[in-house]
Amino acid sequence: MLNVIPSGDILGARIEGLDLSKPVSAEDHRVVVQALGENGMICIPDQHISAGELKAFAQRFGTLEINVANSFMDEDHPEVMILSNIKKDGKPIGLSDAGQDWHTDMSYSKDIAFANVLYGLEIPTRDGEPLGCTEFANMHQAYDDLPEELKTKLAGRTATHDFNKFWEKMRSEKGSSRPALTPEQRAKKPPVLQPVFLTHPITGRTVLYANPGYTMQIDGMDTQESDEILAFLFKHQLQEKYRIKHMWKKFDVIMWDNIGTLHNAVADYGPDEHRLIKRCQVMADKVLDGAALQLA
Ligand code: OGA
Ligand code: MN
Repeated sequence: MLNVIPSGDILGARIEGLDLSKPVSAEDHRVVVQALGENGMICIPDQHISAGELKAFAQRFGTLEINVANSFMDEDHPEVMILSNIKKDGKPIGLSDAGQDWHTDMSYSKDIAFANVLYGLEIPTRDGEPLGCTEFANMHQAYDDLPEELKTKLAGRTATHDFNKFWEKMRSEKGSSRPALTPEQRAKKPPVLQPVFLTHPITGRTVLYANPGYTMQIDGMDTQESDEILAFLFKHQLQEKYRIKHMWKKFDVIMWDNIGTLHNAVADYGPDEHRLIKRCQVMADKVLDGAALQLA
């Protein structure tokens, strides 16, 4: 029997009794979807699965993204991406700096993401302690705690999100070797408008859907006011009380809800401390079930 064990903290749960090398029953799948919405992040420990089995599990939740621009794909399954700092014959085998600041996956895309599924195959450790944790923040609670006048002011509004914001932040603040996006690359990922608040498709509650990684401007507001409000929101949503850290164990499968949480990959490990993760990004098409995103 499947067992969902909430962390008792602001978000996160562990699921026991699942073996992802076998097909998940319809009932267990339903329990996992619900647990994900309610807890924001779930960990399914001790899984021994192939890239194909990871993909089979992930694609039950929605269409998988294929990152066309990216070369770090599993050989047999382009929907499975490799995150790693490992080099083979001097060449990186995976994307080495994914998600190293607070963000929401794919909020820069017209079609947003629902969930990201990561499978930890090599986890760096130092003195027996895991490194390279992934942090999460709870956007249900962050919304609930906003001042009432701000909830009213921002209700029904949209904000502009831009892929280039995160890219440039990585380049300027993190000493990343990423080159600037070319005009052609930028044209392929034009800025999009997203609701500032939206109704979560699983919990039915309102969440704050703005993030420092991609959100540029609240639409229809003068720049100074928008800058002030966004600065407030970014500080508010990342308060310690909304956050947890997932300390990885080898063979964890973790899955997070990109509608109800923000996340950050902590880069506290060196080039010789190896990390290897397989990843499937699940789009929100199935969880929204054809419904447009609801502005709250
Ligand atoms: C991602 C991401 C976090 C991590 O894959 O989108 O942010 O800890 N990864 O690898
Ligand atoms: Mn991410």
